[in-house]
Formats: sequence, C-alpha cells, structure tokens
Amino acid sequence: MSDSVVVAGAVCDGGRLLAARRSAPPELAGRWELPGGKQEPGESGEQALVRELREELGVEAVPRERIPGEWPLKPGLVLRVWTVRLVSGVPSPLEDHDELRWLTPDETDTVDWLDQDRPAVAEAVRRLREA
Ligand code: CDP
Repeated sequence: MSDSVVVAGAVCDGGRLLAARRSAPPELAGRWELPGGKQEPGESGEQALVRELREELGVEAVPRERIPGEWPLKPGLVLRVWTVRLVSGVPSPLEDHDELRWLTPDETDTVDWLDQDRPAVAEAVRRLREA
C-alpha cells in the first residue's frame, strides 16, 4: 500500500514566507509549520493543497513548484511541499492555527518550526533569496 500524504504550502508573497502556528494537538501546539493537511482519496496533491489553504487560511492560492523530496511524519505518512502563490484573500488563522507570521529570509529562524518542515522551509527560503 502506498503512503498517505500530507501536503503543505510554502506561501510566498512580497519576498516573505508565511509561517503558521499550530493550535492543536497539544503535542504540536505552539510549533510553526507550513500550512496544509491530508490529501484525500481522488484528489491530486495540488488540489488538496488548494483546498487546505482555502479552509485553513481563507485564501485562493496556486501551487507553483513541488519542492523535491518527501519527509516522513510517521509510518505510512509523508509530507510533500509546494511553493505557492497567493491569488486572492488575506491569510487568516481560520482553522488549526492561532497565529500567522510573514517572515523575511533573515527571520525564518525566529520561529520554532516542526522538525519535519525544516528541510522544505530551508529550500523555500533559498528560492526566495534567489528571486
Ligand atoms: O487537517 P488535517 O487532518 O488534514 O491535517 P493536519 O492535522 O493539519 O496535519 C496532519 C499531520 O501532518 C499532523 O500530524 C501534522 O503534524 C502534520 N503536518 C506536518 O508535519 N507539517 C505540516 N506542514 C503540516 C502537517
């Protein structure tokens, strides 16, 4: 059986990366992540990501590029990440998060990212610096 997938977005706008602070579950609350969630049966990764960002942040967004690689979350579950461009809306923490922050490349180490998100965050920041 293939692994289940959690999709997440490195949402970039104006040279900054969006970080979201989890409000649940207790063991993850207070840690920062790239917003996203589980890909459901019948959805592509990109479709799942657009849906999750709509539900969690209230924005319309377009996945740009998959960041190469995938990162294990637990047995049978992996994380995949795309860079994302905002099309409309201002992100607000509607679901799963209690704070959002736009970080410049120099500020990305100021929040406590989930360990499994760190490689993709580093790659997204590298791309932001090159842009
Ligand atoms: O809301 P949904 O159940 O679809 O997904 P979620 O609770 O946001 O995420 C499912 C799992 O993926 C959780 O265990 C999160 O910790 C993990 N996750 C992650 O490690 N990194 C992310 N950027 C997003 C989710």
